[in-house]
Amino acid sequence: MNILILGSGGREHALAWAIQQNPKCDRLIAAPGNAGMAEIAECAALNIEDGAAVVTFAEENAISFVVIGPEAPLAAGVADDLRAAGIPVFGPSKAAARLEASKGFTKEICDACGAPTAGYARFDNAADARAYVTEQGAPIVVKADGLAAGKGVIVAMDVDTALSAIDDMFGGEFGAAGAEVVIEEFMEGEEASFFILCDGENVLPVGTAQDHKRVGDGDTGPNTGGMGAYSPAPIMTDTVTEKALNEIVKPTVAEMAKRGTPYQGVLYAGFMIKDGQPRLVEYNVRFGDPECQALMMRLGAQVLDILLACAEGRLDEVQVNWADDHAMTVVMAANGYPGSYAKGTEIKGLADLPSDSKNMVFHAGTKADGDKVLANGGRVLNVTARGATLQEARDRAYEMAAKIDWPDGFYRKDIGWRAL
Ligand code: AMP
Ligand code: GLY
Repeated sequence: MNILILGSGGREHALAWAIQQNPKCDRLIAAPGNAGMAEIAECAALNIEDGAAVVTFAEENAISFVVIGPEAPLAAGVADDLRAAGIPVFGPSKAAARLEASKGFTKEICDACGAPTAGYARFDNAADARAYVTEQGAPIVVKADGLAAGKGVIVAMDVDTALSAIDDMFGGEFGAAGAEVVIEEFMEGEEASFFILCDGENVLPVGTAQDHKRVGDGDTGPNTGGMGAYSPAPIMTDTVTEKALNEIVKPTVAEMAKRGTPYQGVLYAGFMIKDGQPRLVEYNVRFGDPECQALMMRLGAQVLDILLACAEGRLDEVQVNWADDHAMTVVMAANGYPGSYAKGTEIKGLADLPSDSKNMVFHAGTKADGDKVLANGGRVLNVTARGATLQEARDRAYEMAAKIDWPDGFYRKDIGWRAL
């Protein structure tokens, strides 16, 4: 079959890498793709947030399955357009993507289905929000309702920080995403991510992971899209996983179906876990990046069968065959990220690294220039390895990272510190 993957990050490279190993995959096209994806797929220029353009492209290229990586095309309704055209697609509808696109909506769903989450209030003006924060006190969490590229959440340890976050959001810092603000109780605990495929009715867990959001070692410095991840997450014990499924995920999926907006795709649930009790921090409607890279390394070629079953409403017929192992991905980013950084710097040494089922460098912001690989974004490479233990996966990943010759990039040296 001919398969189209939308996106150009490390997440999409990892999805492409796993999918093209499956014998069912005849032709793989990535739009827009990156230098790493170009080695295993055809890359095509396409505006992936334009549903009509994606449908036309898919029809012209006899595509029989589309995998949507990032949230923006989902929130724009590209999955709806593909479904309407009769093209099987992995990814939720625009209505279901509100679980990521509106934090207030997610809170409403949690209320309706009784899922444990932080207490909260929603506001459409600064004055009421300020009064609420002043009354509640700190620590407290201020969130822009809409999509804000991961920057719309301020965990305020004092009231002044919360008040200025409110002013910034209603002042237009996040555009329309900040027209509504959700203010939440601060939850203590340890965070973990849980990835669950849903076909509208059935759910299939596909792994747990822990991300490292801060740019610096020891979880210091500003937030990023994620500087490294490992899977599985030890804090997600069998008991915590059962609770998360039964108290949070399944009720959410049932509530979405009840509303006539069934959830089809991967649900990425972020939990705060304390004393063995998970509470929902947020949902995302796509795989995490870089968590996906660690998950794909562990799942391999079967991913295509599972994603297809998800798109076709057959998740009850498939199961995940787990290798009982660990994977870690270390993100290499351009110096200066998450602030401003240079593009176009050359990365050397990639060709000498192993590239097999246990060791892979997934590309994110890269661009090919003849034989050269150039940096073309903030997060640039995802050095990923599998091992029998997390320590082994970590050692391999760092061994590879050390061999990459890129003076204009950096990486955290402590990915996995919590678990190790
Ligand atoms: P989000 O963009 O919703 O993932 O939030 C970013 C980060 O803020 C999360 O990964 C948590 O570390 C933190 N966070 C969000 N909501 C809360 C909360 N209610 N209590 C404590 N930390 C939170
Ligand atoms: N790594 C965090 C995210 O994908 O949102």
